[in-house]
Amino acid sequence: MTIHADNTDGTSTPTPPAVLVENLTFRYRSLDDEPETKHHKTVPAEPPLEQPQAIEDISFSLPAGELMLIAGPSGCGKSTLLKCLNGLIPNSYHGTLSGQIQLGGRTIKGSTLRDLALQVGTMLQDPDKQIIASTVEQEIAFGMENMNTPRAEMQERIAGVLEQLHLEHYKGQATFALSGGQRQQVAAAGILVMNPSLYLFDEPFANLDARAVDELEELIAGLRARGHTVIIVEHRVEEALRLKPDKVLLMKDGRQVFFGSTRDFLEIADPTQVKLPIESTLRTVSDPAEVRALLVRPITTGVSSVSEQDKPILVFENVHYRYSSYSEEILHGVSCQVRRGETIALLGPNGSGKTTMVKQALGLLRPTSGSVKLYGEDTRRLSVAQLAARIGYVFQSPSAMLFASTVRKEVS
Ligand SMILES: Nc1ncnc2c1ncn2[C@@H]1O[C@H](COP(=O)(O)OP(=O)(O)OP(=O)(O)O)[C@@H](O)[C@H]1O
Ligand SMILES: [Mg+2]
Repeated sequence: MTIHADNTDGTSTPTPPAVLVENLTFRYRSLDDEPETKHHKTVPAEPPLEQPQAIEDISFSLPAGELMLIAGPSGCGKSTLLKCLNGLIPNSYHGTLSGQIQLGGRTIKGSTLRDLALQVGTMLQDPDKQIIASTVEQEIAFGMENMNTPRAEMQERIAGVLEQLHLEHYKGQATFALSGGQRQQVAAAGILVMNPSLYLFDEPFANLDARAVDELEELIAGLRARGHTVIIVEHRVEEALRLKPDKVLLMKDGRQVFFGSTRDFLEIADPTQVKLPIESTLRTVSDPAEVRALLVRPITTGVSSVSEQDKPILVFENVHYRYSSYSEEILHGVSCQVRRGETIALLGPNGSGKTTMVKQALGLLRPTSGSVKLYGEDTRRLSVAQLAARIGYVFQSPSAMLFASTVRKEVS
């Protein structure tokens, strides 16, 4: 007997949920289990260390067309759960996996990454890991190429997605020259062009400026309006709630502590643990002093006793910079001074040159004209090693910063 979605006797078979997760548990095999690469490791692997479960006993079901927010503190297993949904676990990461996942009523057990790419699109947390190709068009075409899409159709779809995301001006650009936020937008285009039914976004707003955040919010609203199912990982709950998720999954130490509607979530959520929108904070807390303490959280950067007499440590003098002689100028005569004990916020939209400017101070880039002086010495006369001894830097993209593969190795 064949069962049709709409039987003639009037009874219809219930549509399966877009995503069904049952008792999902995963433990990474070792501390530094990076996705397998084609080339073999030359260094013999250290004996595996006993790992705790990265996620434990996760169960939820999400109807098609709904938006779910996964929230929880750093390291609670949010990204691991997404990797289980898109098949990176167990296809690329080793470990012990149990429980089951169904997408549209079918188990994904045994599916290859290629099979899943037609159903699931993922925007990774770290855009540097996502971008593979050297030009924007190649990057967007990557998934379609794997599916042997005809060239003419590919070009048409690329043009369509660039237009949809208002990224036409990225055409022909090299991906290495894009800023962190721009990379994220190109990564989004690469997913959209595949038209999967389930979209996974891992902290998509992290690198974006205010305008790009608005655009991405619009894009996500559009996906949902077109009936796609969307899962977003975001620990900044307040921002994520602007997307009006249907469901919230709250995690802690690998376990789910809440799964339900956003309305129920706002009833139980503790505003001292997660930053909530003002209205719900006011609803759950009645003492005005407590409300004030929660809402007004100044950023403390230590007591600064900077005086005008202090000699500046870092001086930018009329710094101009272009990445190569035939590319556009990025810094147009920047002059500024930084004194000991000062904290300075460098603000500007995606691609405006913030990271480029910081790299000048580190000596990773040298001005095309003008000068950068650290403790009175021109950075052009100092080696990167000499500069590194005097200046510390936390990179925008964590993968660019961690060279050693374990935290233990990194700090030693
Ligand atoms: N590739 C890996 N190999 C081994 N252990 C890992 C790996 N990736 C994550 N883990 C471990 O799994 C646990 C969950 O990490 P996960 O990245 O899923 O957390 P997260 O909630 O996404 O955190 P964040 O908010 O910082 O992105 C952590 O204890 C982490 O150390
Ligand atoms: Mg994560």
